[in-house]
Amino acid sequence: MTVLDAAKAGTFTIGGDMPVHRLGFGAMRITGEGVWGPPADRAGALATLRRLPEIGIDFIDTADSYGPHVSEELIREALHPYGGVRVATKAGLTRPGPGRWDMRGDPEYLTRQAHASRDRLGVARIDLWQLHRIDPTVPRDEQFSAIRDLIDTGVIRHAGLSEVSVSEIEAARAYFPVATVQNRFNLADRSNEAVVDYCEANAIGFIPWFPLASGRLAERGTILDRVAAGHDASPGQIALAWLLQRSPVILPIPGTGKVSHLEDNVRAASIRLSQEEFAALDAATRA
Ligand SMILES: NC(=O)c1ccc[n+]([C@@H]2O[C@H](COP(=O)([O-])OP(=O)(O)OC[C@H]3O[C@@H](n4cnc5c(N)ncnc54)[C@H](OP(=O)(O)O)[C@@H]3O)[C@@H](O)[C@H]2O)c1
Repeated sequence: MTVLDAAKAGTFTIGGDMPVHRLGFGAMRITGEGVWGPPADRAGALATLRRLPEIGIDFIDTADSYGPHVSEELIREALHPYGGVRVATKAGLTRPGPGRWDMRGDPEYLTRQAHASRDRLGVARIDLWQLHRIDPTVPRDEQFSAIRDLIDTGVIRHAGLSEVSVSEIEAARAYFPVATVQNRFNLADRSNEAVVDYCEANAIGFIPWFPLASGRLAERGTILDRVAAGHDASPGQIALAWLLQRSPVILPIPGTGKVSHLEDNVRAASIRLSQEEFAALDAATRA
């Protein structure tokens, strides 16, 4: 029997001092087509955001580039002053148009964007700020150094990285404590297994983006069906439950602009797969 409470997923303590429930929310899908402009259903997006704290979600992932600005602005409109909800944001990708993402990592730009996100969210300090991508055209040490400065000047509390290798995480840790890593990871895409293991060994939160493979893992007709039937659950819930069981440092952030899908996803927090079920899913999808 599934329960509607994200707290059932347990907690992960970001940066050693900021506990959040391990099932969060990805706020990229509350924007328009191509992650551009306002959402088609603005009232639905606001209702989805307002439902989060009511069902135990206290961790939201967003970025300056979602919209751009639209996601951060809607989060503020729906939830400011946030109560116990932690909002993580990012910068490092610019948006020339719908569906287009260009890297930009010069220190002045990253610093300006972090200040602007802080203002848009209406917080004194950003709880978690993530470098969306390491820009290969700018020395990475300059990007890491800018992040160190953002921590030292109190603009951000914790810092994380996105789409990085183990060696890049290690290089960044020479500059600042890497609190989280956000890489693509789901049952159907396991290319970041080694990064998950590294994060677990070093108490770094691992935030798998694309946890439902853009909704495909929520569809029927896959290997997930049999396990789902045994739990009276949906395939998407089993995909999220598998992520939660893969490692105690994993914080999935499924994204949606619909209250019904949000509630469907949160019910995954109360599902416990047996060792046999976990292993069968693992083996069937690892290749
Ligand atoms: N760091 C990065 O580079 C990066 C890149 C991409 C995303 N992200 C972050 O990761 C979050 C999650 O990634 P994502 O949104 O790309 O992928 P996702 O969570 O795997 O999939 C979201 C898609 O699945 C659908 N969906 C969600 N719940 C569903 C349900 N219960 N049943 C059926 N369909 C469902 C949504 O559509 P509906 O809106 O119709 O529900 C949406 O199209 C984003 O919101 C963002 O915060 C980070």
